[in-house]
Amino acid sequence: MADSIRDLLFGGVSTGRELVEAIEPRRSFDDVVLPAPTLRALNHALALVRKHDLIFQQWGLAERHSSGLGLAFHFAGPPGTGKTICAEALAYALDKKLLVVRYAELESRWVGQTSKHVATVFRAAARQDAVLFFDEADAIAGRRFTSISVAYEREANAIVNVLLHELEGFAGVVIFATNLAANIDPAFERRIRTHILFEMPDVEERERIWAVQLHARKTPLAKDVDFRALAEAYPRSGGDIKNAVLKAAQIATVEPGPDSEKRIHQRHFIQGMAEVMAAENVMSQSLFDEAGASGPLAGMMDRLAEGQEEVRGELGVLAERFEALEHKVRSLNDHYTAGRVELERIHSQALESLTSGRRAKDRILVYLIAVSAVLAAAALVVSLLRL
Ligand SMILES: Nc1ncnc2c1ncn2[C@@H]1O[C@H](COP(=O)(O)OP(=O)(O)OP(=O)(O)O)[C@@H](O)[C@H]1O
Ligand SMILES: [Mg+2]
Repeated sequence: MADSIRDLLFGGVSTGRELVEAIEPRRSFDDVVLPAPTLRALNHALALVRKHDLIFQQWGLAERHSSGLGLAFHFAGPPGTGKTICAEALAYALDKKLLVVRYAELESRWVGQTSKHVATVFRAAARQDAVLFFDEADAIAGRRFTSISVAYEREANAIVNVLLHELEGFAGVVIFATNLAANIDPAFERRIRTHILFEMPDVEERERIWAVQLHARKTPLAKDVDFRALAEAYPRSGGDIKNAVLKAAQIATVEPGPDSEKRIHQRHFIQGMAEVMAAENVMSQSLFDEAGASGPLAGMMDRLAEGQEEVRGELGVLAERFEALEHKVRSLNDHYTAGRVELERIHSQALESLTSGRRAKDRILVYLIAVSAVLAAAALVVSLLRL
């Protein structure tokens, strides 16, 4: 009943199936260009996972320890530096599925529900023997609030606690990716085996990243293409380079002429990168920049954020009240059931006494008939004797 009330009021809650997206990894470390220290750290992480089975199963340490058996890695670095692609490549190297946690589904409007969802995703990863991936984990593994003033903060703290608890009991591989290592709650420090830093690529790496974004055989390149010049001109992340390559290809294909003769030229790559940078400028413009911060729009954004926070708090309180209501309905239901049982008992007792009363009446009637029969017989005998 409680579930149907929930569904009626709030349109239902998420099911475990939607909390993660299962990815069959296709990209490997061959598709990634990384600085030597990052690559070393990743190889070390891989070696740890591969030796995990030896240490815990064959050497029996899993039987001696019930917690702390998992391997948690933290990939930290600026946007577009290859954290997500490396999580996929790690799963690929281990021949496991990658389960990407979906925060939109994980975050429930119900107090306590998000914590349950966190537990569910760990169970799903254990069941499927998959690599569990918390991408952009700042959102969920952020620092706990030290003083709690609204229900939302209490919930956020509870989620981090559950996450730490699940991590302790999980025996598989978990990867957290964040843009800023400092954003993650310090309590993770003890549970995370290896922190791997992803840095912006240097010129050599950028040159190779430009090249790996294209298909070695199929992508038609013009003779004037010079990746070294592009790498030197644009100190951008791998993510930006990827987007610039895709734009360059689009620009090249819409130019006039037969498709079979089309090539991607240096000018297309230059225009592609110019568009990527222009788009970034638009994104960071007016609403959020210094000048805009004091403008009316910024004020509106602040109020919106505050309003959102308040709504979350109110929703938390509402959900708590609903839980209490649910509890009351349940206890009322219990009382009703107990009352009905008691009524049925009294009813059957009354029936019983009624039937036993009727039996007594029947006995008296039989007795009276018997007495009158005896008397009638006696009267007959007497009258016969007189004759
Ligand atoms: N080091 C790299 N080598 C090769 N390609 C890269 C590299 N870094 C990024 N890329 C390309 O950019 C794309 C985006 O990178 P990715 O999503 O892995 O970055 P990220 O660090 O996870 O970024 P974010 O913090 O925004 O999530 C990748 O799919 C890949 O094509
Ligand atoms: Mg990412």
